[in-house]
Amino acid sequence: MSEQAIGVFDSGLGGLTAVKELIKVLPQENIIYFGDTARVPYGTRSDKTIRLYARQDADFLLSKGVKMIIAACGTVSSVATELYDTLPVPFTGVVYPTATAAVKATRNGKIGIIGTSATVKSCSYKKEILSQNERIKVYQQDCPLFVPLVENGFISADDDIVKLVVERYLSEMKAEGIDTLILGCTHFPIIAQAISDYLGKNVTLIDSGKETALYAANILGSRGLLNSSSTLGSCTYYVSDTVDGFRKTADLFLGRNVEQEAVHLSLDKLTKKS
Ligand code: DGL
Repeated sequence: MSEQAIGVFDSGLGGLTAVKELIKVLPQENIIYFGDTARVPYGTRSDKTIRLYARQDADFLLSKGVKMIIAACGTVSSVATELYDTLPVPFTGVVYPTATAAVKATRNGKIGIIGTSATVKSCSYKKEILSQNERIKVYQQDCPLFVPLVENGFISADDDIVKLVVERYLSEMKAEGIDTLILGCTHFPIIAQAISDYLGKNVTLIDSGKETALYAANILGSRGLLNSSSTLGSCTYYVSDTVDGFRKTADLFLGRNVEQEAVHLSLDKLTKKS
């Protein structure tokens, strides 16, 4: 069992920011990644659609015999919470580990949360933070323009457009004096520098991919499911849209050159009930 892969999925390729962290924390693990590139974005869709897609994505990973599933997607983690109780393997989304890290990190008790519209509407992070410490003040802001900005390569901290959008979205939280900000979406670590430049170095940014990778390692360890192999694990990528351009985008989110091509999984296969 321990040599079985960890399954990671996201609405698209942004979830590779979490895979990057997972490889750092658990280099010996095999990973199967599924990016639903034919149906991205999820963050602007209804809860019902997000739940349906999330279940199909998880079922695909289960069909590959994974030992654990991680929803790297902030939107899925916020909306499709039933996955915690309905999957036959250990599962985690990003909300619990990330909120927990933010509660630990804050010194002044003021935490900001940014994510897609669906994530912010669900209040998932807010509820989790308040369940851990009801005195914390929480400020939420959906940042839908960050996703297309990143996908179109507007990522430099010196880019005027990036600076403008960052300021537009974050000025209220900055004025409120947050000292901790949850990057509650797969794409946001890519523009972390621009966000940090604007908020100042006293504001701690919490990366959901990093916290979730650490949490997943704990889950696997506590269940005796860690891969004890001494060789480096492999990563296999599946996408639901064409594989054209996969490597270029994957390089951006993984922060290194991806050597192998993704495998195409048709939507017919993904949506077929087994
Ligand atoms: N992966 C999504 C998230 O983390 C962002 C892209 C989308 O809207 O699907 O919320």
